[in-house]
Amino acid sequence: MRFQALPATCLALLFGSLSQAQSVSTGAAQARITCPSGKGVGLIAVRGSTEDPGPGRLLAPIAANATNQVPGTTLTSVDYPARLIPDYLGSEQEGVVALTALMRSYAAACPGAPVVLMGYSQGAQVIADVLSNATTPVDNAAQPLSTNDVAGILLIGDPSRVDGKPFNAGTANGDGLFSRKDSTALEAMGDKILSICNDGDPVCDRGINIAVHLSYDETDGVQATQFVVSKAMKMVAAKQAKAKAVKPAAAAANSTTPEANRRRATAWVA
Ligand SMILES: *[C@@H]1O[C@H](CO)[C@@H](O)[C@H](O)[C@H]1NC(C)=O
Ligand SMILES: *[C@@H]1O[C@H](CO)[C@@H](O)[C@H](O)[C@H]1NC(C)=O
Ligand SMILES: *[C@@H]1O[C@H](CO)[C@@H](O)[C@H](O)[C@H]1NC(C)=O
Repeated sequence: MRFQALPATCLALLFGSLSQAQSVSTGAAQARITCPSGKGVGLIAVRGSTEDPGPGRLLAPIAANATNQVPGTTLTSVDYPARLIPDYLGSEQEGVVALTALMRSYAAACPGAPVVLMGYSQGAQVIADVLSNATTPVDNAAQPLSTNDVAGILLIGDPSRVDGKPFNAGTANGDGLFSRKDSTALEAMGDKILSICNDGDPVCDRGINIAVHLSYDETDGVQATQFVVSKAMKMVAAKQAKAKAVKPAAAAANSTTPEANRRRATAWVA
């Protein structure tokens, strides 16, 4: 059974009565960035509504397990209100601004470092909005930014979910509360995205079972962790292979042997 259009205010009240955690706004404080090392990646977490500052209850164990499997990995959490009531969309927009700023700072502090974005609930919408470069009021305006170093994008319980997208996973077959009007940008990077949503989730599937929304760590934690790990390792391996291919080409650059000339001519192909 499913409501076709569950009013956001009903959902807000439901959430408000269930949640024990207080949402704490830490204002304009800058997230602390620690660059990944070795074969590690930079995880950037955007928590869900009403979760305590940091990666949040749901994403924390996924980030921890992925870090155990990919040494050198670091975790940075987006500093934003994650407010549910009042003014969910205002909070979400603050998240869009904060994530955009953080990604720019990250690129400056850790140039070329592979990044995996992970978002839960409101945090998933924040990430999807930033990557969508969305401009409508519901989708919220974001800034353009390069996604070359984004290895993977994990979205869990995304309120902006649209059914039928190739990057969707889980048992849901409905749209989210704030379903996205234009998914063009997300589809273009669809091979990097995993968007998990299960049947009955009030937030990403407009269902009526809040327990579904609150238990993705138990139902899908292993799959989510595997996704993060595989995307991270794939991009790190690709970057290291590229770095290796560039070195011999550079060393041969001053040589005048036919072999060196051939390598110079074909180096750009790698
Ligand atoms: C993002 O939106 C801005 C403003 O509408 C536009 O100038 C820019 O080309 C867009 N970037 C992408 C990658 O779509
Ligand atoms: C993290 O790993 C532990 C130990 O293997 C496991 O018990 C737990 O379910 C994992 N959590 C998630 C969210 O995958
Ligand atoms: C090529 O020669 C230049 C000029 O002698 C030198 O500065 C440079 O280091 C050399 N490059 C390599 C890869 O040996």
